Amino acid sequence: MSVLNIAHRGARSLAPENTLLAAEKGLALGADLWELDVAVTLDGELVVLHDDTLERTSNVAAVFPERRPWSVWTFALAELRQLDFGSWYAEKDPFSQVRAGAVSAGELARFKGAPIPTLREALEFTRSHQWRVNIEIKDAAHTPGDAFVVEKVAGLVKELDMLDRVILSSFNHDYIKRVKTADADIVTAALVDQPAPDPVALLEKTGAQAYNPNGKFLDEKTVRAVRAAGYDVLVWTVNEEADLRVLMEWGVSGIFTDFPQRLNRLLGR
Ligand code: G3P
Ligand code: CA
Repeated sequence: MSVLNIAHRGARSLAPENTLLAAEKGLALGADLWELDVAVTLDGELVVLHDDTLERTSNVAAVFPERRPWSVWTFALAELRQLDFGSWYAEKDPFSQVRAGAVSAGELARFKGAPIPTLREALEFTRSHQWRVNIEIKDAAHTPGDAFVVEKVAGLVKELDMLDRVILSSFNHDYIKRVKTADADIVTAALVDQPAPDPVALLEKTGAQAYNPNGKFLDEKTVRAVRAAGYDVLVWTVNEEADLRVLMEWGVSGIFTDFPQRLNRLLGR
């Protein structure tokens, strides 16, 4: 049975997460699709970022020290464009891949000054390579973006004619329902951090096509039941070879991994 190899935040073990450089790496490694996270800026633009704040993955503390706690939604896109979202990777070596010699000096040099991508740029990159992407809409509750983020993301996917290349997911299941109201044909996935009491009922209620559980709490029975009901199971975020093997045996539809190179090897590619 085939398993989708999903490069989590791009191939983030080998490049700064959620940049086009990480996406390029995932593509070069042969991942079937990549995953990115969407946040909303002060001026209502959609950007690719995981955290609510900018500190971990940029030099914002040095450039805008007075703007602590550096919440993304308090910055305009033009301000975000002044920041470097790449240099932190070499400094922090988050997966010890620099130390292991898996990242070349040339690659590290390219990471310096990497810009935050807009969602439009990320989608255009994906489309230009006939690739696919899982867009995770981060919960924008308590920020102005909450009112429009879903409709804006769905609108962009439609404008770029990418319905066949996109899965929209969120931990906020109201967002998942709103996607379907914006366009019933967009493929969606319900993310869960804890096991849903009844995953199939959750999918029926939200109208989603996939159940995206935390791999830590998944069991074979759940995978088999969800798959037998005609839905996909896309598991996050799994990096250890033994865990990847077990999930493949259970028949999951796809795996989000920071190491798409590892999963591809197990898939015999
Ligand atoms: O979409 C799967 C995974 O990305 C969800 O968790 O925290 O990495 O966004 P997180
Ligand atoms: Ca994510």
